[in-house]
Amino acid sequence: MPKARFAELPPPDDCNPSGNPSLWDLLDSAPNRRHWLRQGAAAWLTAWAGASPAVAAAPPTPPAPPAPSASGRLGFQPLAMTAGGAALQVPTGYTARLLYRWGDPVGMPGHMPELPPDASHSAADQARMAGMHHDGMGWFPLPGPEAPGAAANSRHGLLAVNHEYTDENLLHPDGMTGWNAAKTAKSLAALGVSIIEVQAEEPGAGQPPRWALQRPSRYARRITAGTPMRIAGPAAGHRMMRTEADPQGRRVLGTFNNCACGVTPWGTYLTCEENFHGYFEPPEQLSDHHRRWGLRPGGRWHRWHEFEERFDLRRHPNEFNRFGWVVEIDPYDPTSTPVKRSALGRATHEGATCALLRDGRVAVFMGEDARFEYLYRFVSRDRVRPGGAAANRDLLDHGTLSVARFDAEGQGRWLPLRHGHGPLTRAQGFADQGEVVIKARQASDALGATKLDRPEWTAVDAASGWVYVSLTNNSARGKAELPGADAANPRAPNPMGHILRWKHHGDLGSETFDWEVFALGGEAEGDAFGGPDGLMIDPRGLLWVATDHSPTAVPAQPGDRLWLPRNQLLACDPAAGPGAAALRRFLIAPHGCEVTGPVMTPDCRTLFLNLQHPGVDPAADASRNPWAGAWPQPGQRPRSATVVITKDDGGPIGN
Ligand code: FEO
Ligand code: CA
Ligand code: CA
Repeated sequence: MPKARFAELPPPDDCNPSGNPSLWDLLDSAPNRRHWLRQGAAAWLTAWAGASPAVAAAPPTPPAPPAPSASGRLGFQPLAMTAGGAALQVPTGYTARLLYRWGDPVGMPGHMPELPPDASHSAADQARMAGMHHDGMGWFPLPGPEAPGAAANSRHGLLAVNHEYTDENLLHPDGMTGWNAAKTAKSLAALGVSIIEVQAEEPGAGQPPRWALQRPSRYARRITAGTPMRIAGPAAGHRMMRTEADPQGRRVLGTFNNCACGVTPWGTYLTCEENFHGYFEPPEQLSDHHRRWGLRPGGRWHRWHEFEERFDLRRHPNEFNRFGWVVEIDPYDPTSTPVKRSALGRATHEGATCALLRDGRVAVFMGEDARFEYLYRFVSRDRVRPGGAAANRDLLDHGTLSVARFDAEGQGRWLPLRHGHGPLTRAQGFADQGEVVIKARQASDALGATKLDRPEWTAVDAASGWVYVSLTNNSARGKAELPGADAANPRAPNPMGHILRWKHHGDLGSETFDWEVFALGGEAEGDAFGGPDGLMIDPRGLLWVATDHSPTAVPAQPGDRLWLPRNQLLACDPAAGPGAAALRRFLIAPHGCEVTGPVMTPDCRTLFLNLQHPGVDPAADASRNPWAGAWPQPGQRPRSATVVITKDDGGPIGN
């Protein structure tokens, strides 16, 4: 896929593709990989298959280490930003280990294929392996959500791992050459979600937990872009959801572009469909609806439609409406059918962070990662009931979806997307609540919601009541006819992004709130960051920020505090107050790689993290092998992976 495809898309509707340059900048800026793309690589790989892994090598000594946090709650020695080396860096006294790479067996009983060096494996094998490009991730303690004390289990559980997108040039021995049905099937099989079982032996005193994948596991599962699912909520059965293959509009095959996520209080996983529009062949005549959702002539990124006709909107126009949802999965039941929860609205969804209200209902906060798009909240009608997934099977089908308006004086309001109220009427193009949720962008436009700088993850600090959202960047703000700076998006353009937070007047279900800018990317105080993306509030109330920043976004030089050639994970103590000065750099990613999916165990002694789209260290000698500087195994195809980070003395992470 040439970068030109992305450049052709106009900025206002252009979510991740033009604004998240990481993958494509990597392709453009990594001469080694470009060379491979031109030459083909199968011969290189077999010769280098025996190279040894380079994971979590000792971090280089920071030249001028910043101080630990002033609040005293963060005790690690922060890292100084470095460009050299391909390794993952963590502070002195910590170790990161590989857990689950693209192509590792998931662990379903029976055949457990391993990734061959030339990626010549079949689609059937790919469906039993980790998918590509790990992203959001959730922790599900065993033996299960209803077992006494299970919620606190920090040694044995399930991880649900999103696989966001495919890199066809890594997935097949010869990339896109000779695109065919087998390659299409393999591409679909490399997406979706993994459910894996992980366990650590109880460590001795002063020892860290040592984690291993449990294989085989009765929980192990892969959900792909072809897995049968159910559609529930107001869009189920709607005329805009009916297709030739599903005349009832209640069944759909698969989920893809699964970005961030959420974990419900009843122990299910929410996986979020982000940039779905690029997977479809557009119709010749684009409607306003198509355009508002990002379809453009020539704007398709994949060739799936040539062999899976449901992706050809010229023949099946409604298939497009059946993606862009939050999908609920019961990780404890590998036979369960995933459900698209349409009451939460359609969006290029980033994440779906859940929190309980005081009365036992649930709130779900959701960013839509596209330039000038919106922030959403769903509040359930009913209270969460004990009994796990079975007792709450319809909870996310009834409730109120709202979109955020941030007013200039630091106050804000949730605007309900409720059919029949305000402009959301048949006369205005919304025939019923199903059409409101399918056309949630248009409904939010009509309500006057605030257009944000690509809202990505949200995080809820239940103790303080603050809710955080990362606004990753928006280099188009202020350009030409596009919106300029406003109170909640104070910089135009905004290449480094920022983090907002708000506190409700009442509980998390209240209609109004106060908000403030928590931290601006690119600030020189503290440890500079750009492209905030993944957010996590850990059980102690510490805020963790994972970045997805393009080093080309700011033309800075080594020595400049804003020189950020690699992505990172930072921690801060939000109790110390807002400001970039509070952020401390805990991890530096391998070259070219995005940091995402942070998950802390309840005891805070294990941090699971995903490293997405690792690149190739340009400093490595590539004269004999274009992937000499690849992560995690030099000389082999780069592989996104889950890593597990522990403190060497077995103590809490970050303290
Ligand atoms: Fe998939 Fe917005 O990151
Ligand atoms: Ca993201
Ligand atoms: Ca991102």
